[in-house]
Amino acid sequence: MDQVSVGLLGFGTVGSGVVHLLLQEQEQLGERAGCPIHLEKVLVRDKEKLRKIKLDDDRFTVDASDVLDNPNIDIVIEVMGGIEETRQHIHRALRNKKHVITANKDLMAVYGSELLEAASDNGCDLYYEASVAGGIPILRSLTDGLAADRIQKMMGIVNGTTNYILSKMNREPVTYEEVLKEAQALGFAEADPTSDVEGLDAARKMVILSHLAYSVPVNLEDVSIEGITEVAQKDILYSKKLGYAIKLIGIAELDNQMIDISVQPTLLPERHPLASVENEYNAVYVYGESVGETMFYGPGAGELPTAIAVVSDLISVVKNMYHGTCGDHIFLPRREKICKPDEA
Ligand code: NDP
Ligand code: HSE
Repeated sequence: MDQVSVGLLGFGTVGSGVVHLLLQEQEQLGERAGCPIHLEKVLVRDKEKLRKIKLDDDRFTVDASDVLDNPNIDIVIEVMGGIEETRQHIHRALRNKKHVITANKDLMAVYGSELLEAASDNGCDLYYEASVAGGIPILRSLTDGLAADRIQKMMGIVNGTTNYILSKMNREPVTYEEVLKEAQALGFAEADPTSDVEGLDAARKMVILSHLAYSVPVNLEDVSIEGITEVAQKDILYSKKLGYAIKLIGIAELDNQMIDISVQPTLLPERHPLASVENEYNAVYVYGESVGETMFYGPGAGELPTAIAVVSDLISVVKNMYHGTCGDHIFLPRREKICKPDEA
């Protein structure tokens, strides 16, 4: 392979981080991937918008087919968000034998199985590390690092925006609305922050984690969800006086072959390891039957931490292309039986 060409769907917070890395770290990324990576096209809604990174005008397009049907493009990176339109774009890219990387948890929580199957049918990769916990490589850890273990329980802070809001309200006399605006300005919040503050974003991430850890498709409708919109600063301050921190916690637990998943504001004793996770940082506690307790910690939202997850996926895909192993995606649910019974 002389070079690999990439098409980007979206040039907002995460897309800007991806372009920054592709341009600033071009040489190093090429060396790590095994061949140069070229950015061919970028899909946006508004070509005239002022961007913080300057690109030649002819790289921009508002027509998705310039990326999805472009024979020069090998890999599509989807960082535009949304569900239905994006689902169709990814199917189209896969039908055109393009590998796909996405940061879209809204989409993967609901249509993950369908899209992974489409990727497999087309011999393509579909990677989505950035969809959960930003810069923490938690999907790789579940499907690779802990592949030999049986996961019993996962518990974590998986939404950066709400953790930013709760930590700031714990430290300073600020209103919920003021801090939410800050989290939006810093690029942590979703385009519509309702899904952050009402707990839906965290629930989607717990669904993706549970699908990978427990090998069962989980319906978002089965998750019990409560967000932070009813948490007032006086609740936070009273809890603090009593030695507790309020955190939005997602829990997924295996109980007698059933999986119980919930997201809710939770009182944690101040000495609890999750109580000290501040600002947009995330942390995921994973309990495996053999390994025991493990904890994964790092920035859970924002431009560069998320872009690192996306571009690391990109390096994996390019290596797979080189080795001819595309379609063997590593972020697949664990399988209890790989051989059919009569082959065993
Ligand atoms: P932004 O809103 O900042 O950026 C979205 C980009 O997509 C914009 O460039 C926009 O174009 C473009 N876009 C949106 N809809 C369309 C469309 N219909 N057609 C063409 N272009 C479109 O989003 P983020 O970068 O924050 O998030 C992107 C994805 O990454 C989402 O799925 C989000 O959930 C996920 N994510 C975000 C994280 C974060 O910290 N922000 C962390 C992890 C995942 P234009 O610029 O012209 O408006
Ligand atoms: N809005 C999300 C959050 C972005 O705040 O965690 C990262 O997925």
